[in-house]
This record gives sequence, C-alpha cells and structure tokens, in this order.
Amino acid sequence: MKVIRALCMLAGIPNMFGKKEPLEITVSSHGLQFAVPSGKTLLEAALESGIGFPHDCKVGTCGSCRYRLDEGRISELDSSARALSGADYQAGFRLGCQTLPRSNLSIWLLSLSEPVAVAQAFDGRIARVAPLTGDIVELKLRLDRPISFVPGQYAELSVEAIQGARSYSFADAKNCESTDEVSFHIRRVPGEVFTGWLFAGDRLGAPVQVRGPQGGFRLRDGDAPIVCIGGGSGLAPLKCILEHARRAGCARPVTLLYGARTQADLYCLSEIDEISGQWGAAFRFLPVLSSEPNDSDWRGARGLVADYASQAPDLADSQAYLCGPPPMVDAAEALLSRLGVATENIFADRFFERSQV
Ligand code: FES
Repeated sequence: MKVIRALCMLAGIPNMFGKKEPLEITVSSHGLQFAVPSGKTLLEAALESGIGFPHDCKVGTCGSCRYRLDEGRISELDSSARALSGADYQAGFRLGCQTLPRSNLSIWLLSLSEPVAVAQAFDGRIARVAPLTGDIVELKLRLDRPISFVPGQYAELSVEAIQGARSYSFADAKNCESTDEVSFHIRRVPGEVFTGWLFAGDRLGAPVQVRGPQGGFRLRDGDAPIVCIGGGSGLAPLKCILEHARRAGCARPVTLLYGARTQADLYCLSEIDEISGQWGAAFRFLPVLSSEPNDSDWRGARGLVADYASQAPDLADSQAYLCGPPPMVDAAEALLSRLGVATENIFADRFFERSQV
C-alpha cells in the first residue's frame, strides 16, 4: 500500500479508492515541507499549514507570493507573467496564489513572513448595520467564539443564499487579540449580489459564515515614518492598523492620505481625529476629494489622492501602506518608487470590489 501511495503522490493521481493524494511541497530555502490537497493552490495549502508564505492580494496582482520553481510540474489559474518582471519569470519565478501543483514540487522562497494563524471557520450573526456614508456601512458580526487577528488582515464572509465568499478587512482593532465581535466596512457595489443582499433590507440576526484571519497586510516593525494612502472603504485596514499602533504607544511620524469622491464620502473622521490626538509623534491627515463640486465650501485638497504622496516628509526613509482600488494603489506605488521609497518598504492591499475576483 505504501508503494501505491508513494506512486500516487509522485504522479498526483487518484489512489485505488479514487481519492487524489495530496502532493508534497519542499521549500528548499527554509527546510520546510507541506502538503497540497487536490484543487488547492500552493498559497492556500501553505497558509492552511500555518506557513508564512508571503502574500497580500491572493488574486495574482501584487507579486508578493512569488517563489522559484526548482522542480516539478504546475498549472496556473492565471499566468504569473501578469504580475512578475520578465527577468523573474525567465528565472523560473511563479505566483503561489495562481499555482496548482501537478506533481510534488521543490520551491525556493526569498523569505517567509511570520507564521500565520491558520484561518478558521466561525459562525456569525449580524449584530449591526450602520451607515457610514451614502454607500458604505459598518457591518458588525457576533461570532460563535473569539477570533484573533492582526490589524490589516481580512476575513472571507459568506451567506447561505449567495454563492461564494467575499473578502473584507477587519475595521476595528479593539480586542483583536481575542474578540467575538468583528466589524467591516462594506461599500455597496451596484449589481453585486452580496452587497445587494446586505443593503436590501433589515438583516439584523442573519447568519454569516466567517473564515479568517487571512492576509499579510500589517504594520511592519521598525522606527521608519509611516505613510498610509487609502481610498474609499480601503480606509478600514489603515484605520485598524493605526488604532492598534496608537494603543501600543507607537511614536513614529504618520502621514495619512485619504481619497474620497466628495465631502459626503468622507467617514471615520472623528476616529481619525482621536487616533491623531493621542498619537505619540507627528500625525498628518490629508483628505483629498476627487469629485467635489467646484462651487462647494471645500477648501481642502482636490484631485487624486495618489498624487499627494509627495506631501509626506522623509519619504525615502518611510514605510508606505496602500489600500484602495487597484488604479489608486498602482499610481501611488509608482509615484512612491519615483520619490525614492524602496520597493521592499511599500506594502499594498489592492481593494478589489472583492466579489468580482
Ligand atoms: S500575487 Fe499572489 S498574493 Fe498577490
């Protein structure tokens, strides 16, 4: 039986009971091994094994999950070439989130993140839906047991009536070490079923499945100045990170740039004011409006928030945290690089209308 199992594992083919055996992955750079069950991506399986496989977007755009394939066969959900440089692709780098192993693999990683908590499934119920703007609500869920997460991470939410899960960042850092109450900022996306369901009526008490925590977006250690650039409901993880850092006594200078369409779309201003007032160093907050009527009473910044990145002092020595729609994040990333911020100090969470990915 052992021989049959070994052969099945080598080939990734069904065993005599018709069940596919997991494939084995060797991370030669770190002397680790983990198994990939049939149908899982390399990244999914690594995270489920508690391995700190670097990642951010999980949808093949950020490039954080790149690894070098040294041995074995894979197929890809989407070509890794989309997010990797030509040189990296030629050198054999591929994306973990897009990789379906087809045989046992030997791979090489530049680095590992801190070990991650394995995402777990929780039963939740809607405890509150409170409007934050005309199209963003705070969704508060009560869970069947406490969850722990790192501010910046996200969870997948799903409801029985709707197929598939949607990913949203934790928005409230309170008791993130262990809490049975979690909050998310959810923007209504026209034509999208989950947000359509949520906004359609009174959902108090409705069951919601929660799978988390997930993702590697979080505040990195160090004493570098912090530059946060967010757009729309992409404010949620940035606020969560800063709230937590403030409680931990962080004394690094912060510049928070926040992009919204109009004054009516600005939200969490009192929370930001509170964080800023208790921050242990300089804290600059600059809201930027892209579609505010010219004749309004707004005297603040106008235009695209990414264009204001140069307003942060000591940029070249800063760590930058970006969260929002991909065009905003891409523009901010490009400008920050031009202004001298090292690539390894730019951390991005591209906030897809996650239902669409
Ligand atoms: S490209 Fe894989 S996590 Fe972003």
